Amino acid sequence: MIMSPYALSHRSVIVGCGHYLPQNVVTNEELSKTVDTTHEWIVERTGIHQRHFAAHGELTSDMAFDAAKKALKMAGIDGQDLDLIVLATTTPDLTFPSTATKVQAMLGNTKGLAFDVSAVCAGYLVALNVADNFIRLGQAKTALVIGAERLSSLLDMQDRSTCVLFGDGAGATVLKAFDAQETDRGIIGIHMQSDGNYRHILCTDGGVASTGTPGKVFMEGREVFRHAVTKLADSADATLTHYQVDPKDLDWLIPHQANIRIIEGMAKKLHMSMDKVITTVHKHANTSAASIPLALSCALEEGRIKEGDLILHEAIGGGLVWGSALLRF
Ligand code: UT7
Repeated sequence: MIMSPYALSHRSVIVGCGHYLPQNVVTNEELSKTVDTTHEWIVERTGIHQRHFAAHGELTSDMAFDAAKKALKMAGIDGQDLDLIVLATTTPDLTFPSTATKVQAMLGNTKGLAFDVSAVCAGYLVALNVADNFIRLGQAKTALVIGAERLSSLLDMQDRSTCVLFGDGAGATVLKAFDAQETDRGIIGIHMQSDGNYRHILCTDGGVASTGTPGKVFMEGREVFRHAVTKLADSADATLTHYQVDPKDLDWLIPHQANIRIIEGMAKKLHMSMDKVITTVHKHANTSAASIPLALSCALEEGRIKEGDLILHEAIGGGLVWGSALLRF
């Protein structure tokens, strides 16, 4: 469902970005020493060369906090002044309370509302959608949106079909309310959807209420790939059509980073050359909810993104949950 935002008077503008990657870099060659795979297979099928894995004792909240501090610094906003913190993660520190409330305390914030959202690889876009709605409705003036994952905790390191695909990290953005009459910057529209009939093709084999353990990642890769190609293209098309944006007017595609073949397929469908697509999958692998804000923050750090750029995000993940977001940076 797409809601028209134009009747509302506030717009959510991204005024800060930050990211964190654990120090420990694990190459394909290293993984091939412990599981039956090769660097060549991983690169050819996914584009991944390496990933970062969190150190023992390094938690999702630690990574989220670091990314958040950098985003707040860029925004010039004190963490105490935030009205809202939405943290997307599949790998919370604890079952409860939410990792967002821990980050809230780490930031010294007591006045805002903090909570987690669970939408796996689409989590950042769902969190962005929620925060944008709070701002549009006037319920928050400043919001911190974080994607943070310690996916390595959920990997079976003997399962070559999944353990080579994922990595750890965090990305954060700060949103600020602007009068819609005064700027054309900000989130233009977000279109999210899910279909729980496909939840068995990308899931864990455990959970609190079922097995009493978090379980390990299971994926029917080929099936997820098939859905990704069609659902992401349909979502991007619906969003661009709704907001009457020609793909040639996009400055950047910043997609979820799961597989370079999916990303290249999307770029082709949008008739965008790959130099207008931000890719980090080769160095970060799939960091689930962290991948989009991580890629955005890295591209900003490299001086590639500038104020006023028109950006399309898209993501798909377990659920299945998928969608796209259009914004002017
Ligand atoms: O972030 C959420 C969204 N996730 C995605 O979008 C991921 C979507 N799926 C994919 O990216 C791809 O399907 C994968 C990268 C997961 C797999 O690539 P694929 O080209 O679809 O390979 P496949 O699963 O069809 O497997 C092909 C072969 C199989 O061997 P057989 O049955 O043909 O003999 C696998 O057992 O490759 C084998 N294989 C491996 N070989 C070496 C699977 N994993 C590995 C591995 N190393 N790591």
